[in-house]
Amino acid sequence: KHVLSVASEAVPLVKTGGLADVVGALPAALAEQGWNMRVMIPAYRGILKKLKSPKKVWESANLYGGPARLMLGKSAGMEVLALVADHLFDRDGGPYSQDGQDYGDNAERFAALSFVAAEIAREGLGKWRPDLVHCHDWQTGLVPWYLRGSGIPTVITIHNIAFQGRFGRDKLAALGLQTWDFNRDGVEFWGDISTLKAGLVAADAITTVSPRYAEELMRGEFGLGLEGLLQMRAGDLHGILNGIDATVWNPETDPEITPFSAAKPAGKASNRKALEAEFGLDAPGPLAILISRLTSQKGIDLITPALGPFLAAGGGLAVLGSGDGWAEHAMRELAAHNPGRVGVKIGYDEALSHRMFAGGDAVLVPSRFEPCGLTQLYGLRYGCLPVVAAVGGLADTVIGSTPATDAANASTGVVFHPVDDLALRQALMRFAALYYDRKGWGAMQRRAMKMDWGWARSAERYAALYDQLCTR
Ligand code: ADP
Ligand code: GLC
Repeated sequence: KHVLSVASEAVPLVKTGGLADVVGALPAALAEQGWNMRVMIPAYRGILKKLKSPKKVWESANLYGGPARLMLGKSAGMEVLALVADHLFDRDGGPYSQDGQDYGDNAERFAALSFVAAEIAREGLGKWRPDLVHCHDWQTGLVPWYLRGSGIPTVITIHNIAFQGRFGRDKLAALGLQTWDFNRDGVEFWGDISTLKAGLVAADAITTVSPRYAEELMRGEFGLGLEGLLQMRAGDLHGILNGIDATVWNPETDPEITPFSAAKPAGKASNRKALEAEFGLDAPGPLAILISRLTSQKGIDLITPALGPFLAAGGGLAVLGSGDGWAEHAMRELAAHNPGRVGVKIGYDEALSHRMFAGGDAVLVPSRFEPCGLTQLYGLRYGCLPVVAAVGGLADTVIGSTPATDAANASTGVVFHPVDDLALRQALMRFAALYYDRKGWGAMQRRAMKMDWGWARSAERYAALYDQLCTR
């Protein structure tokens, strides 16, 4: 059984967020379920060099104004189909933008990826023929649209509905769409084209990355204009929680840190010391960390107004992230005003993120919406207990401390609602109180660290969905 996965990023080749982690993890997880998955991504600059034994399996003299070829190679055990089209993908900046400016031809760039994926799905590559195509987010939303009527089943996963692939109607022809596709039951969305909508209309099944987000998406505040369509397709919409790579995120074997485990937690203290030194911190009480894209989705603006009482109670905060200018500025200011208590590093640093989960007591995730979220899962694994907003995957994975959950020895973190600065301030104080109860805190850490967030359960659900679509 073969499945073609199509996406704009995949770990370890290219990553801007959790999407890449998930796309990169699925092939190994699904192999355990008897599904062979190949991952098609654009060959952005430098990608080809990272592929092992690449060989050409397809080519075209003209794909959106330039030559293109597909190179099949391996990366970390994953079979990758890299779409080489230098006029589209060989650029100085990131996958989608440069210096904060989206590329002017993103519509064409990702339509090209989608177009080639659909062609491969139809024609196969030699003996390799996908039984099903699985695509991800707006970048590949046109894949199910292009495959309408082909009989090849398609699944689209929503990782973040805030990115909708909206382009002006003048792009219709460029995207290979007809004027009659441009209507409310088609690719039209508030007068524009939405490639995500195209995928949601045309795919045989829609998944998203947590059960709670699947429910939330049917309301306007989360569905962002697509809620009506999702209500209509509720029977085909499945919430399947993301997993984490439990070998990369394992505090017993993580090469970045002093090892520790639920049974032998002693190492955690030296990791905290090292982390404080790295950030120039000296907090007598609980140490919180934040590792995030710095954007309004992630609730970064709530932190400054919420932090005062927590710092007064002896708390500290270490921040690692990058993103919007206003948010980077706010974090820098926070550190400047609270020397020794708040430390900030602007940038992207995978290794440092490991050291932070190992040394931190709690990881803050005050997101306004969070389809799944991965950092709370890493936190649970590393005894760095999540303080999270009650939305999406955060609500599905963290058991908030309440008198009832504490009495049942079930809580694994602090969950707050609504998502505002008052609730975050109260949540931070609750975290501090839990932390100062040393015996209770230790028990909570052990509980959290023992939970299993590996891919096995989710992979079973994807496989069951694939099987169901293929026999329909
Ligand atoms: P999103 O995809 O919305 O950004 P997720 O929680 O799903 O949110 O995934 C974010 C991923 O990126 C996690 O693996 C997280 O550890 C990582 N990450 C985010 N910012 C940084 C950073 N500045 N340095 C290192 N890793 C980061
Ligand atoms: C998106 C979401 C995040 C999710 C990730 C992987 O980036 O913002 O919540 O974990 O996709 O599915």
